[in-house]
Formats: sequence, C-alpha cells, structure tokens
Amino acid sequence: GAPKYRFLRQQGLHPVRRLPDALVIGVKKSGTRALLEFIRLHPDVRAAGSEVHFFDRHYSNGFTWYRHKMPPTLEGQITMEKTPSYFVTKEAPVRVHQMNPTTKLLVVVRDPVTRAISDYTQVASKRLNKDMKSFEELAFVNGSQCGIVNTSWGPVRIGVYARHLERWLKYFPLQQMLFVSGERLVVDPAAEMARVQNFLGLKHVVTEKHFYFNATKGFPCLMKSEGRSTPHCLGKTKGRNHPHIRPAALERLRQFYRPFNLRFYQMTGINFGWS
Ligand code: A3P
Repeated sequence: GAPKYRFLRQQGLHPVRRLPDALVIGVKKSGTRALLEFIRLHPDVRAAGSEVHFFDRHYSNGFTWYRHKMPPTLEGQITMEKTPSYFVTKEAPVRVHQMNPTTKLLVVVRDPVTRAISDYTQVASKRLNKDMKSFEELAFVNGSQCGIVNTSWGPVRIGVYARHLERWLKYFPLQQMLFVSGERLVVDPAAEMARVQNFLGLKHVVTEKHFYFNATKGFPCLMKSEGRSTPHCLGKTKGRNHPHIRPAALERLRQFYRPFNLRFYQMTGINFGWS
C-alpha cells in the first residue's frame, strides 16, 4: 500500500485482521456469551461478535475466510472468537492445533444437569408448535420411568465433559486451557474475570466496577461496554426460566453424571462443586 500505511503497519498502528489467539470453545449454555461480552470490555481484546463456526461447519472455507471473520486489531491486541460447539466437535482439536498450537482455549462449564435443562429450554423456545416432548421423555430411554439415561440425546451427551476434554488433551496441554465456572461467573463475575485476564496475560482492567447485580434479571449486568455507556444486561435469551423437572429425574441425572464429574475434577484439578 501507500508509504503512510506501510509505516503505520510497521508500527503496529494500522489495524489488520488476524487469526484468533484465544478461543472460547464451549460449553454451550454454560455462560459463554457472558464470558465473551465481559472479556471484550478489555481494550486489549477484540472479538468476533457472532459465532463463526469455522472448526465445525465452515472448515472447508479455509483460513483466509476465517481470518476475514475476525475484527481488525492493532499489534498487541488479542483476537478472540467463541463457538461453543467446538468443545464437542471431534475434528476441532486437531484443526485448532493445525491453525496454531499455542492457541489459548477457554471453556466455561456449568453443572451438566442444569446445563441440559437450559439446552432443552432453548430448543423448546424455538419450537413454534408447542408439541415438544417433555424433558423427562427426551432425557430417559423409557420416558416417564426416569430409569435409563438417554446418552444419545445431545443435551445429555454434551454434559459428559470428561469425555470431550480427553480429545482436546491429545493436542493441547492442560496449562493452555482455562476452565471457567459458569456458576461463579454469575455469583462473582469480577473474580472469574480476574482468572481469565491472568490466563490471557492481560492487565486487570475488567473489575467489580464493570458489574452490577440486576435483581429483576437475577444476573450480573454491565455498567457500560464498547459503544454503550448505559447499564445493560445480556439479551432476553440469556437467563431464561426453566421448566419444572421431576425430582426423580433430577436425582437420576445427578447420579448418572457423578462419576464423569469426578473424572473431570481430576483431569482439571478443579472441584466445581456440582453434587
Ligand atoms: P439460562 O438462560 O438457561 O439461564 P450461553 O451464553 O453459553 O448460551 O449460556 C447461557 C447461560 O448463561 C444462561 O442460561 C445463564 O444462566 C448464563 N449466564 C451467565 N451469566 C449471565 C449473565 N450475566 N446474564 C445472563 N445469563 C448469564
């Protein structure tokens, strides 16, 4: 380009689109949107606004396509993207590794039972005809009996975190992954964001001052953000009311997940406290 732009680029002052340095790879319905919105308050972070789905759906489009989905950044700024389905996509670990083996990976996790109900609630809300089967009918092979857990049903399968993590650990060391507690992101967003900023090597810019607890919504909301100076919460689709689930179904699911949760705690070295 013109000498002026070449100069600016050399100085790192001319924004260019780059492949991501860090990815929020999952887990769906655990608070991934909240995490992305919170971290992009940081001036040294730029993130793609919507889910790009490169490593699962659009991989054949190639890295140039992917790079063009990223926001322009200045040198030193971190480029990020979040697509929660990456965590459960078999091919994603090798593909991310091929792009850049030093990519930092963030995983938000939430009690798999609540996560499954949240997942179901989202699917149900999209159904125009309200003839959707109940959660219990879908989560168990024998429906209302609440006996055998239907492990082939997506909302159940996604919650077996240990199994999905195993595949990532074949390509990435544990130290390159950060596990964010979806529960703590709600009760103490600033503390969880301190961990995130440490992990990304960023100064602690996102702090208590950015959050306030909105009692009506029942979630932390933002005092201000990029382009908006007024307080606001995440959209209506984040923080939905969940349907009532039979206690026997909840108990059975907790029992089902218990060994997988323990395995996940061992693998990550973190006790997330899901009972
Ligand atoms: P529910 O709507 O079931 O409560 P994701 O963004 O990964 O799809 O996750 C959605 C979930 O993020 C919501 O699930 C909600 O519990 C959680 N969440 C965490 N922090 C939130 C916040 N500050 N505002 C709204 N939802 C938040």
